[in-house]
Amino acid sequence: MAKINSNYGKLQAGYLFPEIGRRVNEFSQTNPDAKVIRLGIGDVVLPLPEACRDAIKSAVDEMGTIEGFRGYGPEQGYDFLRNAISKDYTDRNIDVRVDEIFVSDGSKCDSGNIQEIFSADSTIAVTDPVYPVYVDTNVMAGRTGKSDTDGQYDGLVYLPTVEANNYEPSFPKTPTDIVYLCSPNNPTGTVLSKEKLKAWVDYAKETNTLILFDAAYADFISNPDLPKSIYEIEGAREVAIEFRSLSKNAGFTGTRCAYTIVPKELMGKNDQGEDVSIHALWNRRHCTKFNGVSYPIQRGAEASFTPEGKAQIQELINYYMENAKIIKAGLNALGIDTFGGENAPYIWLKAPQNKGSWEFFDWLLETCQIVGTPGAGFGSAGEGYFRISSFAIRENVLEAVERMKKAI
Ligand code: MLT
Repeated sequence: MAKINSNYGKLQAGYLFPEIGRRVNEFSQTNPDAKVIRLGIGDVVLPLPEACRDAIKSAVDEMGTIEGFRGYGPEQGYDFLRNAISKDYTDRNIDVRVDEIFVSDGSKCDSGNIQEIFSADSTIAVTDPVYPVYVDTNVMAGRTGKSDTDGQYDGLVYLPTVEANNYEPSFPKTPTDIVYLCSPNNPTGTVLSKEKLKAWVDYAKETNTLILFDAAYADFISNPDLPKSIYEIEGAREVAIEFRSLSKNAGFTGTRCAYTIVPKELMGKNDQGEDVSIHALWNRRHCTKFNGVSYPIQRGAEASFTPEGKAQIQELINYYMENAKIIKAGLNALGIDTFGGENAPYIWLKAPQNKGSWEFFDWLLETCQIVGTPGAGFGSAGEGYFRISSFAIRENVLEAVERMKKAI
């Protein structure tokens, strides 16, 4: 009989969002008339931008001709898209070269898969609360022991990122090989300042730490003083990999397209103590396990970088950020402390009446028929907090705020 990877046995019950889905389905079955408003998982609701749709459609038509048909594409992505991505960086005076861009089907996949190319005994630091993918994929790979009653895994370094430290994680107290940072942050919606990010880059250089920088929500930053890319910081090319996604800005959660930047300067060490190019390793992994994003979708992604595409994406972002403003103002009017939601589509709040995260989740679902995400689901430091997503139709956002006003 096949022997299973027993590290999977260390994982906590289910992945957060399916668990929320399960509870909501159960509620809906017992309350079939309830109109549930979903502000839980960060899934977009507005239609794909027209520029992307048109490009996808004409690429499909091209595929219907002998001349235009394409089979396997380059694993790293077509040059037309990689050029557009590179230009998007260089237009902002950020040095990202075409061959450092790896197009993929999602940042969840990339930020989950990247750990494969690092040694099994690498020490890993994550913020707490944290996007669960970073933790779970390292658990699956055997880099941790069991979890304790707070859900923290033995062997992982947790960096509290909480109200008390203004959502700015401190550096690990013990040496770590790899640290995951996410800014704008999922789940807290807070953004690291340029100074703070520079301090991280400097720390990483001094301590030979690799930063895995998840910037999936970068386009939601409107404050020009906040960094959208870690490569805005001098020296970051030597210490950081950056993950970007079209899921949330261009509405590609179902369409699937993302990209990861692995600068050529990045080096790791092999068992013999020799330098090894991380770019070469990721390329090797990508070519072995991935056959590229489909041609029509890459054409759609390319269109997201055109002036029309950018303008249409900005409209989507404006819509969601107006939602965030409405939610934040509504909660604040109820005396609830909120964080984030200004340069990110998530609002992080302190559960009222000192309720626990899951307690508030159940209360909000039963009393207001609103779904959010319990902070504790992102780590023990999230206990007592709650995340509300602004990815929703305006009418539902307004109704959700009204329902809360009546109930709280
Ligand atoms: C979330 O709600 O945290 C996101 O949808 C998760 C994801 O992007 O995978």
